[in-house]
Amino acid sequence: MIWDAFRPQSPQVHAIAGLFDGFLILAAVIFLIVAGLVGFSLVRYRARAGAADPRPTFGSRRIEIAWTAVPLLVVTVIFVFTVRTMAFVDAPREPGQPPDLVITGHQWWWEARYPNGAATANEIHIPVSRRLLARIESVDVIHDFWTPQLARKMDAVPGRPGYIWLEADAPGAFAGACAEFCGKQHAWMRFQVVAEPEAEFSAWLRHQAELPAEPTGAAAEGTRVFREQKCGDCHAVSAADVRAAKGPSLAHIATRNLLGGELPNTSVNLARWIASPQSIKPGNLMPDPNLTPAGVQALTAYLESLR
Ligand code: CUA
Repeated sequence: MIWDAFRPQSPQVHAIAGLFDGFLILAAVIFLIVAGLVGFSLVRYRARAGAADPRPTFGSRRIEIAWTAVPLLVVTVIFVFTVRTMAFVDAPREPGQPPDLVITGHQWWWEARYPNGAATANEIHIPVSRRLLARIESVDVIHDFWTPQLARKMDAVPGRPGYIWLEADAPGAFAGACAEFCGKQHAWMRFQVVAEPEAEFSAWLRHQAELPAEPTGAAAEGTRVFREQKCGDCHAVSAADVRAAKGPSLAHIATRNLLGGELPNTSVNLARWIASPQSIKPGNLMPDPNLTPAGVQALTAYLESLR
């Protein structure tokens, strides 16, 4: 169901959803009162044959005080609850507190880096029931990082980082999207936030920072294609390689659920992407590499060895 994508799964989003529900009820009550009074007046004061004009009311101080005070009260209630929720959602960080991860928007993918060197693309891992401080950045245009079930939106503005807390009440994979039009593939600038129990999260984090195993067989042939095609100019294959960040890091890519934030990470999809990235995400920075089928196969085998 579409609503499942918006079901609150963190204390922050529970607070935001509570605020929305409260305002919706308040607005519904006001609507019913106004619509009811309009309906009543239409019937009660309708034109009747032979009836005189109703007596007009001018300068009633009581009515004027009422229709000033009541809206003022309503707006004050909205203001107080909004400020309280904002203070809760944007809970203060310690002075100079370093972020637990840095999330960077690129046209059109998300990079996530952790202090231990782990780098991933379009798949962000967090522990369950412990909030992480995420710094949101951009390298090109304005993006907007949004995981509707876990956190508020945060613009990714070049040169002006923003901070949000990322937290989940329960384990799961939560869909996210870019929420600010940023170019051709904006709609497919998708990602996943994977929340897992603390032990699994720290195992994942440790593993992502490890060097890949030495490739063998078909995968070893793939490393030759990788070098020949100069894939390494844009893509890192291990956490040790911090230089190449033009394209998504391929470190431990075989452990990810999705490719490009949208396709299931299967051999078939990986081979399709390698053979013709432009047919899957037109406009992305990766040129179609013009490989032989054998080359595609070898490169696929190599990337699948990056576990
Ligand atoms: Cu990035 Cu829309």
